[in-house]
Amino acid sequence: MKRTKIIDVLGGTDIGTKVNIKGWVRTFRNNQFIAMNDGSTINNIQAVVDFSTFDESLLKRLTTGACISVDGEVVESLGKGQSVEIKVDALQILGDADAEKYPLQPKRHSLEFLREIAHLRVRTNTFSAIYRVRHAMIFAVHKFFTDKGFCNVHTPVITGSDAEGAGEMFRVTNFDLNNVPKSEDGSINFKEDFFGKETNLTVSGQLEVETACMALSEVYTFGPTFRAENSNTSRHLAEFWMIEPEMAFHDLNDNMDLAEEFLKYLVNYALVHCKDDLEFLDKRAKEEDKQKPQLERAEMGLLERLQFIVDNEFVRLTYTEAIEILRNSKPNKKKKFQYLIDGWGADLQSEHERFLVEKHFKKPVILFDYPNEIKAFYMRVNDDGKTTAAMDVLFPGIGEIIGGSQREERYNVLLEKVNKMGIPEEELWWYMDLRKFGSAPHSGFGLGFERLILFVTGMGNIRDVIPFPRTPDNAEF
Ligand code: 4AD
Ligand code: MG
Repeated sequence: MKRTKIIDVLGGTDIGTKVNIKGWVRTFRNNQFIAMNDGSTINNIQAVVDFSTFDESLLKRLTTGACISVDGEVVESLGKGQSVEIKVDALQILGDADAEKYPLQPKRHSLEFLREIAHLRVRTNTFSAIYRVRHAMIFAVHKFFTDKGFCNVHTPVITGSDAEGAGEMFRVTNFDLNNVPKSEDGSINFKEDFFGKETNLTVSGQLEVETACMALSEVYTFGPTFRAENSNTSRHLAEFWMIEPEMAFHDLNDNMDLAEEFLKYLVNYALVHCKDDLEFLDKRAKEEDKQKPQLERAEMGLLERLQFIVDNEFVRLTYTEAIEILRNSKPNKKKKFQYLIDGWGADLQSEHERFLVEKHFKKPVILFDYPNEIKAFYMRVNDDGKTTAAMDVLFPGIGEIIGGSQREERYNVLLEKVNKMGIPEEELWWYMDLRKFGSAPHSGFGLGFERLILFVTGMGNIRDVIPFPRTPDNAEF
C-alpha cells in the first residue's frame, strides 16, 4: 500500500479508507494508543492496536522514538483532541529505539539540553515546528521577490574582500599550518596558497550582488555568511543566512519602503501558512512566560505580536532625533544604560535600540541618516557631509533585524572614502569599475534570516532557530 502522510489523513481522508502511515512513536499508552508523528504536521495521529491480536514482544518495541509502519482503517475517534484515528490491522517496526538509551522522553526537556543533542532535537514538537516555519519563510522570501520581478543571484562563499570592513573574517587556506610558506621578509606568502592570494569566507554577498544590480536592476542574494566576531549573545551566530536585495534607481526612502513591505509580507505569510505551528509556539511561549517574574513577561502573546507588525506602520526617524530622545531618556539620566549617551556621534548599543522600540515607541523603528564614521565604506554620503544614507530596522525583542543603505555611486567620493579608511584599492578594483562605467543610484539591505525566525517563532535564543548553530567554541555536528 502507498504511504499516506499524517497531515492528509487528519485533513480529511474518508472514514473507512485503508491507509498505510509511517512515522515515529511519540508515546505508547495503555498498551493500546500509539501517538505517531511523521513531521508533516505538528499534530500526531493516534493509532489504536488491539493488544490481544499482537505479540507482546512486538508491542514492547513500541517505545518513544521507534520508527514504525502501520496499515489500518481510518475511523472516527472517540477520544478528545482528534477527529479521526487509525484502527491498526498490521504493524511493522522499521527501527527500534532502546528506551534505556534514547535521550528524548515524552516530557519537557530544557533547550540547553536539546542543543547538546541537536541531531535528535528536530524530533520534538518545538523544533519540528521551527524547521517547518524556517522552510515556509525561505519559500516566502523567494516568492516575494519573484512576484516583484527580482532576479536571484548566487554570490560566492569564498571571497578576497571584506564587504563590511569590520575584519571579522574566517580565513580560507589549504596551507600545511605546520609549514607555512614565507616570503623573504618573513611574512606569509599567500601567492603559494590555493587561490594565489588571501581569501576568507564571505561576511556578506552585497558587493558581488551589486555587480548584477548594475545590469538586471532588481536582484537579491540569499546565502550563508560568516562572521568571526566573538560575541556570545542570544542574537549572534558565527554562521548565519542573509537575504540581501539590491535595487537600481532606488533611494533610501524606496529602500525603507521595500524593507517594511518585505517584513510585513513575511510575517503575514507565516500567520497564514504556519497556523498550527505558530499556535503551538504561542502556547509554548506563554507557558515559558509563566515561569518568569511579572516584569519580564511579554506584553503580547506571539500571535498578537505578529499581527501587530502586519497592522502597524513602522516609526521612521533620523539618528539625530534618536540621540535626542535617548539623551533625555530616564535610563540615561539615571545612568541605567551601560553606555551613556552624551553627544552626537556615538554608536548605538542594543540597550539603546531596545529602549527606543520596546519602551519609547512600542513599535518597530527604522533609524536612518547615521554619522559617517560609524557606518561602512560603501554607504552614500549625504549632502550635509557628515551623515550617511544608512538605515537599520529595529524590532521588539530582537534589536537590529535589517541593516541597509543607499550606496555611494559617485566614483570620486567613493575613492576618497576607500583611501581614507585604508582599504587596499587592488581588493576593490572591480567594485570601483561599477562606478566608472554606467554608474546608477542604487540601494539595498540585508535581513538576518535567523533574527527573522527568532521573531516569528518567539524563541529567545538564536541557537534554537538554526539546525546546527555555529558559535564561539562550538562547531559540534
Ligand atoms: O548590518 P549588516 O552587517 O549589513 C550587511 O552585511 C550589509 N552588507 C547588508 C546589505 O546592505 N546588503 O548585517 C545585516 C543583518 C543584520 O541586520 C542582522 O539581522 C544580521 O544581518 N546579522 C546577524 N545575524 C546573526 N548573527 C550575526 N552575527 C549577525 N550579524 C548580522
Ligand atoms: Mg548592521
